[in-house]
Amino acid sequence: MFDRIVELEINDWAGPFTKENSAQATEALENGQVVYCPNLAFELEEREKRYISTDVADAKSKNIRYDIHTDELGGTVLPPTEQVGLQQLVRRFANKSRELVENLFPDYQGKLTQARTSFRPIEAQGRPASYRKDDTRLHVDAFPSSPTAGKRILRVFTNVNPNGMPRHWRVGESFPQVVDKFISKLPKPNKFAAKLMQITRITRGERTPYDHYMHKLHNAMKADLEYQKFVSQEDVYFPPGSTWIVFSDQVSHAVMSGQFMFEQTFYLSVKDMADEKKSPLRILERAVGRELL
Ligand SMILES: [Fe+2]
Repeated sequence: MFDRIVELEINDWAGPFTKENSAQATEALENGQVVYCPNLAFELEEREKRYISTDVADAKSKNIRYDIHTDELGGTVLPPTEQVGLQQLVRRFANKSRELVENLFPDYQGKLTQARTSFRPIEAQGRPASYRKDDTRLHVDAFPSSPTAGKRILRVFTNVNPNGMPRHWRVGESFPQVVDKFISKLPKPNKFAAKLMQITRITRGERTPYDHYMHKLHNAMKADLEYQKFVSQEDVYFPPGSTWIVFSDQVSHAVMSGQFMFEQTFYLSVKDMADEKKSPLRILERAVGRELL
């Protein structure tokens, strides 16, 4: 039986963490388990609490986006003078989560690329335009327009819901099991199509065969309603005051409901993992019998 959740008893974003904690967290993360920290809260300061509101987001983008490299904030309808406080809050979370992953996963220290930070004040339960965008269906993350060329997608989530509402996920089977079930149904990558998508800017950079398989896998999982219903899975409820960390390109997950959450994405090269054999790249390569980058 595949244990989907590994609980970690930590309560400080900066550490110091014990060797045991780090070893356990790294192993769980690379196994494709959810590293769940029930007592790691992102505490809000009094003056920050007013930003935990649906009023900060614009109706179209729904998420507040922040780029720590440019210090740019997007997706908000707040007037510029009001944006400063929200920007400080999201930046504070971005810094906390970087401290967390750098210290908790010493193998990754100095090797993580910090990507987008987001604050999601809108209820996740809703009706998206297409099944591909429907995150209430089990899937592994793959960004169709931004090929990662094998890089891992590491994500830190924290629930700051002020009304006691948990974030509800479903977590499915392990990545090798997902691949086993779908690999024979996925179309083979096509070099010409990949080039065309790059030239017409459907993708930023070339979609590698690895990105092709991840994208097709993401869609095939979501398209299969029988699979969604009957595959082995578990409901998980992340309460306010808790934090969880996953390789979201590996963990089969669905977001059923929840509101007011911060999320930070990092990229990590496969070669910088403690054990790259466990990566989706290597698992897919073994399944198709060829190199995918
Ligand atoms: Fe996702």
